[in-house]
Amino acid sequence: MLALDRVSFDVPERHIAAIVGPNGCGKSTLLRLVAGLLPPDDGVVALDGRSVHGPDPRVALVFQEPRLLPWRDALANVAFPLELAGWERGRRERRARELLDIVGVEDVARLRPHQLSGGIRQRVAIARALALEPSVLLLDEPFSALDALTRERFNVELLSLWERTGTTILVVTHSIQEAIYLADRVIVLSPRPGRVVTDVPVELPRPRPLASLDAAAVSRTAAIIREHLLVDDGDRADATLRAERVASADGPSAPGPPDTGSVARRSWFELFRREETR
Ligand SMILES: Nc1ncnc2c1ncn2[C@@H]1O[C@H](COP(=O)(O)OP(=O)(O)OP(=O)(O)O)[C@@H](O)[C@H]1O
Ligand SMILES: [Mg+2]
Repeated sequence: MLALDRVSFDVPERHIAAIVGPNGCGKSTLLRLVAGLLPPDDGVVALDGRSVHGPDPRVALVFQEPRLLPWRDALANVAFPLELAGWERGRRERRARELLDIVGVEDVARLRPHQLSGGIRQRVAIARALALEPSVLLLDEPFSALDALTRERFNVELLSLWERTGTTILVVTHSIQEAIYLADRVIVLSPRPGRVVTDVPVELPRPRPLASLDAAAVSRTAAIIREHLLVDDGDRADATLRAERVASADGPSAPGPPDTGSVARRSWFELFRREETR
């Protein structure tokens, strides 16, 4: 059975692309293809112009379900890729501690996965993925197990990490808010078999402090993404047009570029309250 069909896109170096799409449309399959964990039945995945034929040390994938080794504590899980890469014990433990610190869970170093909450396990998995400073980071709904405030903080931290490292990121998320906040563009996939329905550029300048986002631009982008997620094939041609109409119909009541941080922050949340309460 076909999981993905005619999916084609490029992600330039140092860009962040978000992938959104309904359950079962093949998002996780797509990341596994890019990571070289699954050979495509047809077509190619290329990294730096070369076909991917298996796992590549420059690419790190954080799975939808954090896959930690149950018999190892958090520190040893994070240190695992360093061990495989031949780092000596003292050096890899120092690095692993630093990584646990980056994701804010240095106090769980000696605990095993079954002793950790889902959100903490996810953070440990992210720390492990960052261990070898990958040039491509694939994130499969990385923050879905986190509480709302932690999730927001992680989004901010992911961007600051990205600014420091210049890693190319492909992130799968079900949150339109998260996709827009993080990405340079949002790739919308159709229901199974997943196809690229649209590829929406996010025209928000960086850096993106939550307090000063252009709420009107966010609203416009969200409307386009939402429309494309909702429509079926026959409607697709009109979708962008209708989304633009939806956005402009918001006109007078739509928040413009905010004057103060608190106004922007409120608009940001108001904009997505509907999404979160769905
Ligand atoms: N190698 C494969 N060949 C064909 N079909 C596959 C393969 N691997 C997974 N599938 C199927 O493809 C579909 C897409 O699965 P996938 O997990 O990629 O969806 P998803 O978009 O990540 O969903 P969710 O939003 O629930 O995480 C599923 O029905 C799955 O059973
Ligand atoms: Mg998935």
